[in-house]
Amino acid sequence: MTRWIMMVLLVTILTYQNTSGARCRFARSSASQGSCIFPCRCTNGCHTTTGQCINGGVCEDDQPSGHGFKWTDLACQAGNVAYAKSASQSIGDWGGTFPAGRAVDGDTNPSMGAGHCAHPDTEWGKNAWWMVDLGDTYNISRVIIYNKDSEDKRLDTFILSVGNTRERTTHKQCASHNGRVPAGGTVESQCRAIARYVSFRRNGSPDSYAAGLCEVVVIGHRHITCSNCPTTSTCDDIIGCDQCDPGKQQPDCTKDCEPGTYGKNCEEDCGHCKDGRPCDITDGHCTTGCETWYTSAICKTYISTPRLASSDKPDVDRISSSSVTVRWPSARNITSGEETHYFYTVWIKAEGGSYKDMSRQPHTSSTDRFEAHITGLQFNTHYSVKVEPYRQQNDISEAGTSTGVTTFKTRCTAPDIPTVKTLTVSTRAGSNKGSIDVIWKELKSSGCDNIVAVVIYYKRQSSATWKKVPINSHGHKSDTAECQLRQVRRETYCH
Ligand SMILES: *[C@@H]1O[C@H](CO)[C@@H](O)[C@H](O)[C@H]1NC(C)=O
Ligand SMILES: *[C@@H]1O[C@H](CO)[C@@H](O)[C@H](O)[C@H]1NC(C)=O
Repeated sequence: MTRWIMMVLLVTILTYQNTSGARCRFARSSASQGSCIFPCRCTNGCHTTTGQCINGGVCEDDQPSGHGFKWTDLACQAGNVAYAKSASQSIGDWGGTFPAGRAVDGDTNPSMGAGHCAHPDTEWGKNAWWMVDLGDTYNISRVIIYNKDSEDKRLDTFILSVGNTRERTTHKQCASHNGRVPAGGTVESQCRAIARYVSFRRNGSPDSYAAGLCEVVVIGHRHITCSNCPTTSTCDDIIGCDQCDPGKQQPDCTKDCEPGTYGKNCEEDCGHCKDGRPCDITDGHCTTGCETWYTSAICKTYISTPRLASSDKPDVDRISSSSVTVRWPSARNITSGEETHYFYTVWIKAEGGSYKDMSRQPHTSSTDRFEAHITGLQFNTHYSVKVEPYRQQNDISEAGTSTGVTTFKTRCTAPDIPTVKTLTVSTRAGSNKGSIDVIWKELKSSGCDNIVAVVIYYKRQSSATWKKVPINSHGHKSDTAECQLRQVRRETYCH
């Protein structure tokens, strides 16, 4: 595997893990190609779909500057395509000391002694060869070779060939050279070809020596076939199809999207499919369902954690000695459209006890005030109540942030009718008036702190209506066991 391919794979894997693996066509700036197909080669940034220079920029110098070449042509993609690619050569006596890569290191310095040149060697250079793998298929137009500084016969005869495999013997000649090249000079050959490999070979000149290749500049651009573009797409051999059908990658729409990406030009990242599986490359749906807390066909909708604030203390209405109504506001941070995944738990505890789940209510967007009727409480007892929102998906639920705590005390029970101890009727002689003395035993088991009034009713036997005696609650003594009033029927109230 070539260095170029390994580099691209590494970039793809890294960005996939970062869940930003979707393919882009042109990098935004020349700083980093990222997962983009083409590098940006403009001074002030690139348009990410056309590669054109933006912000008034122009094509950059080719890398590194100093050659005197600039990137040119569509989206500045034509230039020295050999720079930093993988090179090899015949070793002979000197090839080991002056390795092949020095001819593609971007340094045109002609000093072989100072280590700036490659030195393919064999049989005194007669069959010396050198080759670069461009890493992909390129449309090549010319090759410029920089000679070493001390001799003019190091490049006097050579043949340039091109091919699509590393088997040099199959390469086809695209150019040849005959004649001295001045020391430190350059020789430019027209070599028009569509190829991945460019090879150089000495042509057996009798007084040739090991060749000095201080730099080999291959001018060209990536060659992209247009035959797989959709009919609606425009295409150019430099940058390929301007659009691919969903599931296919640019530049030539032949490869499927990388796992984890989908859609037109593979521009979209998959959502959160279950077990981290890739999604369908065409429409992005997750065939195995979503990871927990993600939903929708493409699993990109997040069911966020609901929140209530500590200031959202529930209101409590005391309905009876054993029941209350609890009210609270709607939770925040509910994912819109996913209301069915949200619920509330009403937690209540008696003083000294622990919280019990007393009621569950579904969330709905149709109200911003929720309530629960809680029954089965103990009379005259202190309680704490809080409401906790939670999210639920399938069988999994997870609590969000609760409200603050409200404390309350249940009402006491209504006291029973007290037992009458004595009832004495006395009439006054010579008068149609009389009085009735009632003595009853006060109840103490009502659970009330304080009985505030006693009501006594009476009626004539012949009458249907009871009359109420004006109540003198002050006259009632709650702290004595016996109460005395001169009336007949009794009711007690308390709170
Ligand atoms: C190679 O590139 C040149 C210049 O960009 C272009 O004119 C030519 O058509 C290309 N060759 C092929 C086969 O696409
Ligand atoms: C909503 O929930 C998400 C995830 O739980 C969190 O990242 C975000 O900060 C929350 N937003 C608010 C306003 O609390």
